[in-house]
Amino acid sequence: MTSVDELKLQVARRALDFVASGTVVGLGGGSTAALFVRELGRELRSGRLKDILGVPTALEVGALATEVGIPLTSLEEHQTIDVCIDGADETDPSLNLIKGGGGFLTREKIVAQASRRLVIIADYTKLSPQLGTRWHVPLEVMEFGFEAHRSFLLDHGAKTTARRRNADGTPYRTDQDNYILDADFGPIDDPVGLAETLSARAGIVEHGLFLNLATDLLVASPGRTIDHRTRALAPA
Ligand code: A5P
Repeated sequence: MTSVDELKLQVARRALDFVASGTVVGLGGGSTAALFVRELGRELRSGRLKDILGVPTALEVGALATEVGIPLTSLEEHQTIDVCIDGADETDPSLNLIKGGGGFLTREKIVAQASRRLVIIADYTKLSPQLGTRWHVPLEVMEFGFEAHRSFLLDHGAKTTARRRNADGTPYRTDQDNYILDADFGPIDDPVGLAETLSARAGIVEHGLFLNLATDLLVASPGRTIDHRTRALAPA
C-alpha cells in the first residue's frame, strides 16, 4: 500500500466519527469514499453502529454497500440525509470543490444538496489555492448535441475539452447514460460565475463545481494528525 493509500484509509476511518446510529448516510464515490463504505460496513457487522441506512451516489457504490452489509434507502423514501461522506478531486481554502473524477457528479450533487452535513474526506494532494489549478471541471452532458458544447466551453474560458473514455477507448457513460466532458479552465477566478454559465447551458446536465456545499473537510497529510476544517456558514 502506498503512503497516499494509507492516508486515504486513515481519513476514511476518521469519518466514522461523523456517523451516529439510527441515521441516514450519503455514500460518496471514488476510492477514498469506497474505503469509508467498507469501514462503515465493518462497524455495522461488529455492532458498534446500528440502524444505518445508506443512500449511494452511484450504482457501483450501491453494489459495494450491499456487498459489505449496509442497508440501502433512497431519496424517495428519505428526502433528508443526516450526513454524506464523500471524496473530492480538488478543494480550495473556502471548502469549495471540484468533483466528478469518478463520473458520478450529478448523483453526488443531488445527495450532497439533500444532506444536512457534507463531510469531504481527502488526502493532502487534493488541497489547492484556487479551483482549476490541479484538476479539470467534469461536465455530465447529454449525447444529443454534445459536440456543440466544446466551442461554447472554449468561448467561456476552457483551454481544452476532452470526452472521457473507458480504458478500452469506448466513450464513458454515466449512470444516466450521458457522456462526461472534461474541461480544463486552469485556475478559475470566478467559480460562482462559471457555475452559473454552465448551469444555464441546455444539455449540460451538471457540472463538477461544488460550491458552498461542504460543511466539513477532513485532510490527511504525511506525519500529521488529520486536519478538520469547517466552513463558516452564513447567518440565517
Ligand atoms: C467521484 O465522481 C468523485 O467526485 C470522487 O469523489 C473524486 O474523484 C475523488 O476520488 P478519489 O477519492 O478516488 O480521489
